[in-house]
Amino acid sequence: VTAEKGGFEHFMLKEIHEQPKAYRDTMRGRIDESGKKVVLPELKLTPEQIKGINKIQIIACGTAYHAGLVGRNAIESLVRIPVETDVASEYRYRSPIVTPDTLVIVVSQSGETADTLAALREAQSHGAHVLAITNVVGSSIARDADDVIVTLAGPEIAVASTKAYTSQLIAFYLLSLYLAEVRGTQAPEEIAQIIAAMQALPEQLDSMLAKPEAIKAYAEQISKHEHLFFIGRGIDYAVAQEGSLKLKEISYIHSEAYAAGELKHGTLALIEEGIPVIALATQEAVLEKTVSNIKEVSARGADIMAITHEEHVAGLLKSVNQVFAIPKTMPLLTPALSVVPLQLLSYYASLARGNDVDKPRNLAKSVTVE
Ligand code: AGP
Repeated sequence: VTAEKGGFEHFMLKEIHEQPKAYRDTMRGRIDESGKKVVLPELKLTPEQIKGINKIQIIACGTAYHAGLVGRNAIESLVRIPVETDVASEYRYRSPIVTPDTLVIVVSQSGETADTLAALREAQSHGAHVLAITNVVGSSIARDADDVIVTLAGPEIAVASTKAYTSQLIAFYLLSLYLAEVRGTQAPEEIAQIIAAMQALPEQLDSMLAKPEAIKAYAEQISKHEHLFFIGRGIDYAVAQEGSLKLKEISYIHSEAYAAGELKHGTLALIEEGIPVIALATQEAVLEKTVSNIKEVSARGADIMAITHEEHVAGLLKSVNQVFAIPKTMPLLTPALSVVPLQLLSYYASLARGNDVDKPRNLAKSVTVE
């Protein structure tokens, strides 16, 4: 069985470590030889159709939905097309406004999630073009979609999704860049720069995976708690939501992710002496504002761990108890790195609590009922 797990104790840890390869595999063949352009030869969507898109809807469940939140940020900032995100189980019941000029993107690791498949069919019935981002080529979602971008993460066995999520991020970055090329919304140099930063991600990830000790120690510390909070702004908030889901799913610690600026509208009442708060503070543009939210929880006695870039460690240490530094990348791409310490945190917290890491209670890998 350990051979199956490549020498790792659990599939989840193996899959976390497979992420650099998953990044490379998902990018392979989708960046042209010059290294300056994204090519998506698999797409049936024509440049004319792309130019005619007036709205994008991203629909998925759970972790795939969280990848969609990052996808929305990438598409809106690079392509300037309005994007809506929906949890698949809600989509059909809100009478969504879908027209043939709407591009619908469904995201699903397994390609078998019942609600996501139903949302896909609903969108198609309104004439929308549906593009699926999935990890399973022959899946129901891959078969029914009008277009497919396959993530090449390889089989994901652990119930908690790790490498599928990060590969979905890579797929979204590639798609956003391609749409930007076709619609001419970004200068070619800007696109080349983002591609170069993406190509550096696997190595940066390797360097993070080589040093799990600090996160492991922190995980053991939080494993003794029953409640904790994640805070962040912008895409840090999207990653916070993923970190919180992962932690709940396998460690059974109750956690909530909050947009940092929203705390004082209610949740701050729950912050008391010693409660762990994990603050994602990677986005320079809102760093000062996030720091002021960190101070709000710190003043109420929270025990804060921040995730940020090396250059902000010293500054943040004035207001938090611990800092975990991630390698420097472009703001848009940080989720592809900042989620990794959170994956490891969940893993080690689950382990410390003696849980069945790969098969958490009450959950199935693929949810084929609505
Ligand atoms: C992830 O850790 C969860 N197990 C879950 O949220 C999952 O992402 C969700 O069920 C969607 O699955 P899919 O990607 O196969 O559609």
